[in-house]
Amino acid sequence: TGRTPPLDVEGWRRRAGRRVPPMVWAYIENGADTERTLGENRSAYRDWYLNQRVLTRTTDVDLTTTVAGTRLDLPVAVAPVGLAGAAHWHGDLGLARAAERSGTRMVLSSASTYSIEEVARGTDERHWFQLYPWGDRALTASLMDRARDSGFTALFVTVDVPVYGNRLRERRTGMGLPPTLTPRRVLQAALRPRWAYAYLRHRRTTLRNLVPDGTRGTAVESVTVQSENLTADIGWNDLEWIRSRWDGPLFVKGVLHPDDAERVVDLGADGVVVSNHGGRQLDAVQPTVRALPAVAQRVGHRAEVLVDGGIRSGADVAVALALGARACLVGRPAVYGLAGGGADGVAEVLRILREELVRNLTMMGVAASADLAPHHLTPAPR
Ligand code: FNR
Repeated sequence: TGRTPPLDVEGWRRRAGRRVPPMVWAYIENGADTERTLGENRSAYRDWYLNQRVLTRTTDVDLTTTVAGTRLDLPVAVAPVGLAGAAHWHGDLGLARAAERSGTRMVLSSASTYSIEEVARGTDERHWFQLYPWGDRALTASLMDRARDSGFTALFVTVDVPVYGNRLRERRTGMGLPPTLTPRRVLQAALRPRWAYAYLRHRRTTLRNLVPDGTRGTAVESVTVQSENLTADIGWNDLEWIRSRWDGPLFVKGVLHPDDAERVVDLGADGVVVSNHGGRQLDAVQPTVRALPAVAQRVGHRAEVLVDGGIRSGADVAVALALGARACLVGRPAVYGLAGGGADGVAEVLRILREELVRNLTMMGVAASADLAPHHLTPAPR
């Protein structure tokens, strides 16, 4: 099975799980507390059937959309993921390069292992930057300035991490803040020789936006900077301040309630990402595909609505778009590709999603993914 490339996202997930050490796998895969939301993000897609239509002469399916003023050839972008360099040394740069090769973009995490400047230098297109509203406004401001100066066009402010979610698999395997190594964990890493060799050679686990280029920060140091700056003492005035300081498109990521979505848009945001952080933050919240319709109904006419969480196939993308999303983001699927095959693996995962979506829309008789609407779906009996 190692030789034939996986044919679906699940196959890439299995390959990724074989490639990285258990503590890295726990970090990628886990959700908060009981992982109910993690599971339901995926299972909630089973609440919907796709409507097949026949004899429709659907031949050239159009997948283009625009997000934040950027034309995408695929209505799927790469979500911000922290510590990507732990999955594969290509890290965030691999994610970005695969995204642009696939006609889409990535959102660079604040907790990235390649700096804002390194990603700008290593890519051909302009990507988007994810910001945590840190307690330290000087730090927040400097990240915004660096993103702007490096040509990042849109800012995604992640608001669902006032405190770090209680992720038990991370804690059990030593991937807490900061990570702790034991002889057993080191041995487990050594048993993944391909990963361990690349890790020793490239050491891409420092959060380079927080311990800037040119300094000799360690992974533990940078993760400590991150945890010290996380604060629950963050409110609407902080978002207002960010809006006043950022001229380009602004998205707020981590919204589930339509009232919050409305307030975000009233405040001048250009879009929202309906997200529960991939089930990694508040457990027992609604799966995102359930929260999406109410948000799209409330603000979809005056803001761009994106969604992420549990999207693993072209059929899932079709459901998300039919329920009002303009595009979706994928987090773990991109990381599976990265862990399983570096930048090429990510491009392959995006290619699979594209092919699945085109094939599905052909059989649904939908000529353009932007035309997807609720009447293309049937609710499944519960
Ligand atoms: C994330 N996510 C995330 N979000 C964010 O705004 N900043 C970040 O640094 C991270 N880091 C991160 C790491 C890892 C390993 C994962 C899996 C996720 C959340 C991410 O952007 C997205 O919301 C979810 O991943 C979407 O769910 P799926 O696609 O993973 O099911």
